[in-house]
Amino acid sequence: MKRITVKTPLKKDYDVVITKGFDELAAEIDRLKLSGRKCMIVSDDNVSPIYMNELRSVLAKCDIDCIEYSFKAGEESKTKETVDSILDIMVEKSFKRSDICLALGGGVTGDMAGFAASQYHRGIVFVQVPTSLLAMSDSSVGGKTGVDYKGVKNVLGAFYFPDLVYMNTATLATLDDRQFYNGFAEAMKHGIIKDEHFYEWLIESMYEICDREPDTLEEMLYRSVNIKRMVVEKDPLETGERALLNFGHTLGHAIESDRMGVLLHGECVALGMVAAAYISYKKEMISMEEYLELRDMLVPFNLPITVDNIDIDKIIETVTKDKKQDNTGLKFILLKKIGKAVIDRSVTEDEMRAALKEIEYTDDIE
Ligand code: GLY
Repeated sequence: MKRITVKTPLKKDYDVVITKGFDELAAEIDRLKLSGRKCMIVSDDNVSPIYMNELRSVLAKCDIDCIEYSFKAGEESKTKETVDSILDIMVEKSFKRSDICLALGGGVTGDMAGFAASQYHRGIVFVQVPTSLLAMSDSSVGGKTGVDYKGVKNVLGAFYFPDLVYMNTATLATLDDRQFYNGFAEAMKHGIIKDEHFYEWLIESMYEICDREPDTLEEMLYRSVNIKRMVVEKDPLETGERALLNFGHTLGHAIESDRMGVLLHGECVALGMVAAAYISYKKEMISMEEYLELRDMLVPFNLPITVDNIDIDKIIETVTKDKKQDNTGLKFILLKKIGKAVIDRSVTEDEMRAALKEIEYTDDIE
């Protein structure tokens, strides 16, 4: 079992527990003195049938009375309406501020349950139990919550820090390959932006990671979460350095909106990372060898480095509307080297267009 404590400015510090089963959850709940409370478990219709009963029986040991809410799995459910349904049940069941909202599932579940938790009585106890690699390596840590609205991802939301993040890495065994590598992209991102040694370790551990070797996954998550911890502790509300975590996300989010339902978040982040690395190379910030290495090292982890049928004009239009734009110009995350990302405000539309052309799949044979 590994434990990382994340400091926050707004609420008490919280622990991220990384372990190989649900057995230790009862002790964690006890440590937080949450025994005997009511708990709303938010999940989706993929995850709930697999883990709900086991989770309920662990929570029963802490004398916790559980109410379940399960929504249709997928990004399409990440709406205000789903959050309203969660809040309706909390009102109906007379939840108190001291009661718990628990997210059991992937990133969509955590973002929505966290948003509901932040709204109800101006904030109730929030526990994240991520079951996907994407949620474990990134979204369950750091307090970003929210929903999509009018076709724009995460445009409504709040920073709301969890009281506990409990990662049972055994849940990764049931993920399909595509979902597994989808989450891996965020761990790789952490190495690329902040820690060259972690990036190299990921590549050296390629076979163990792809085989989902339990100790390797625990170590990978520990190191990935620790990088995220360092960044979010320095800049919890993203007024500065936290934006580095958006490496690959500026174009990645826009590609994701364009190919909604076709490509997964981590796949779009991988494409966005290739595009951002290409811009870094074109701006002579990294060498061509570094660019090609970064790009090609995504391939053994089954992540895409090219994409077909993209609407480049639409993607550029989406980027300019994206919330990462502020009134000082487009904020882009580029690389000075592998392991060192920087915020850049000089990327032009032509540079973005060239990067999108670079990742556009073409079967032309010259
Ligand atoms: N996923 C990026 C962040 O938490 O800031």
